[in-house]
Amino acid sequence: MSRMPDTQLPPPRTTGPVSLEEALLRRRSRREFNGTPLSAADLGQLLWAAHGVTGTEGRTTTPTAGNTLPHEVYAITPAGAFRYDGAAHILETMNPADLRAPLRAFYDDERILRAGAVIVLAAVTARTAARYGERADRYVAMGLGHGAQNVLLQAEALGLWAYPIGAHDPEGVARLIPLPEGCLPLYMVAVGHPAGK
Ligand SMILES: Cc1cc2nc3c(=O)[nH]c(=O)nc-3n(C[C@H](O)[C@H](O)[C@H](O)COP(=O)(O)O)c2cc1C
Repeated sequence: MSRMPDTQLPPPRTTGPVSLEEALLRRRSRREFNGTPLSAADLGQLLWAAHGVTGTEGRTTTPTAGNTLPHEVYAITPAGAFRYDGAAHILETMNPADLRAPLRAFYDDERILRAGAVIVLAAVTARTAARYGERADRYVAMGLGHGAQNVLLQAEALGLWAYPIGAHDPEGVARLIPLPEGCLPLYMVAVGHPAGK
């Protein structure tokens, strides 16, 4: 099958009107979205916060144990499901379908139908296990927590609502997108425009 085309995202911003302290103060899990899709700029900014490449040797906005870089980040949106390439700041199309409704088979919350994006934080734990052995599971979970918090704070700074999701079935979500063998979507963040606005 021929590869579907990539989408270049607008360059991420590195300054903004909301301070880090304000974003920390205001962050709350808010789950009622109005169904409006995210702009390419907002989606790109959220993905950059999670996994943008900002340093040498692939270093990203999110720390990982020994820079073993186990993280992979995906977005489920009305326009399809995408892998985020943080070095090129592009979306690689994994699936052209809107997977928000089928996602409910693996996390049954009808509010995700109105999310502008579900940011999927996945990991290839074997990359970290190759160096750290049995400590890898713990290190990967810590790293994904950093990534999710980056997304939550970035959403707050963009005036978007967001909430973290850990109650999904990772194997089911991996089959749905589908993700490569060995890559598990352990954590997700639903993001959208506030309901009533
Ligand atoms: C690891 C983790 C997993 C979570 N999983 C879910 C989830 O599956 N569904 C959900 O609605 N909220 C989920 N939450 C959000 C919590 O319910 C929420 O953070 C908590 O009630 C505190 O509220 P606050 O985020 O507004 O401070 C999760 C939070 C964390 C840290």
